[in-house]
Amino acid sequence: MTEPATTPPPGCPAHAAAAPLHGPRFQTDPGQVYRELRAAHGPVAPVELAGGVPAWLVIGYRELQLMTSQPKLFGRDSARWNAWPTVPADWPLRPMMASVPSILYAEGAEHQRRSAAVTDALSAVDPYELKKKCEQIADTLIDEFAGRGEADLVAEYAHRVPLLVLCWMFGLDDSQAPVLIRGLLDMLDGGADAQSGAQRLLTVMLELVETKRERPGADVTTSLLQHPAALSDEEIMRDLRVLLIAGHQPTSYWIANALRLMLTDERFAASLSGGRRSIGQALTEALWEDTPTQIFAGRWATRDTRLGGQQIAAGDMLLLGLAGSNADPAVRQENGAAADGNHAHMSFSHGEHRCPFPAQEAAEVIAGTAIEVLLDRLPDLRLAVAEHALVWRPSAWVRALVALPVGFTPGIQSSSGGAL
Ligand code: HEM
Repeated sequence: MTEPATTPPPGCPAHAAAAPLHGPRFQTDPGQVYRELRAAHGPVAPVELAGGVPAWLVIGYRELQLMTSQPKLFGRDSARWNAWPTVPADWPLRPMMASVPSILYAEGAEHQRRSAAVTDALSAVDPYELKKKCEQIADTLIDEFAGRGEADLVAEYAHRVPLLVLCWMFGLDDSQAPVLIRGLLDMLDGGADAQSGAQRLLTVMLELVETKRERPGADVTTSLLQHPAALSDEEIMRDLRVLLIAGHQPTSYWIANALRLMLTDERFAASLSGGRRSIGQALTEALWEDTPTQIFAGRWATRDTRLGGQQIAAGDMLLLGLAGSNADPAVRQENGAAADGNHAHMSFSHGEHRCPFPAQEAAEVIAGTAIEVLLDRLPDLRLAVAEHALVWRPSAWVRALVALPVGFTPGIQSSSGGAL
């Protein structure tokens, strides 16, 4: 095992007063951390990950655009990271950064091939069918707690809607979906079952690919199999895994963060009973103010270069400061707010590796429908705790509520729900 990277290489610019990218302030007020970083370092800040590992955090809107639109200079494959020799084998962030063969880390022509297949497969999902399925899943989940008059909307709703919708999009049948969901959740929990969860996830994916090769259906897996890119079963399995993880987590957090905004901000209060500010506005505002993926890893410099006034060495890691860029004063109004109706946030990133457009559209249908059905079924929904008692997960990487406890008048079963 190599030594922890506590001793920076001599003269390493990333260690000139690098700010730690962890700690309670990211949980309580990430906006303040970004303001301080910007004041101290400008648009590209030296930061330190757990274990003293150095990186650059790009929090300038323009610099993030520049970086993500130059894939030849800022590559996607983490294998070129110059810090790998000093990163311990059991470094907790290793699974997040390690290069595995998938759409995520592919570059150039190989990325175009995989990205075309994923984009076409997602585009083939009928938006009408998608919305109908979201409504049915939302209704069925609400049925489980509607009679109780109280619920935790994170665990019982926001976390589950996107997962069940994605299982349907992939063409998983009702018996496979729970195995896949358990595997994913065990893996994401990072506990003792994480490894076996990750393995079960891949096994279900592979079985799914084999099943769909024999019995094609109207689903994303079949579209990937039939795509002219001629992906192998292994490639499809890997990219389905990316789609599941990339789709589930941010969409869950997006639903919860937009709901929190609607339940705590009086500008949205009227729309709970069908009034002024719309669900769409809450969704957009949540992306500007509390974007689900706050920081994304990353890009790796292919040669020595400069960005935002900083000297970047070949192989340096640059993290996408999505939340930081959204808060860049250069793209905010004088009062610090994002302009109404402005969708030019960085929450889905930018450039050829950004979240694929049909994935963004699907996420919007899933999140929008989830909130719409909830407010329709439980019109007097209210927060069951004081706003300041809501707890965010202790992470610089995501903006995610631990729980969203609500109360409401106990309702009745839906007519459209039923078995998933
Ligand atoms: C149905 C839901 C979603 C699906 C299926 C999905 C899928 C994907 C995929 C396949 C990628 C990799 C693209 C590539 O490397 O070429 C990706 C990247 C990404 N997605 Fe999504 N996504 C979804 C929802 C979201 C949401 C709700 C957000 C945030 C609000 C988000 C933010 C991102 C970001 C920041 C990246 C990284 C882009 C980069 O490296 O520059 N995604 N997504």
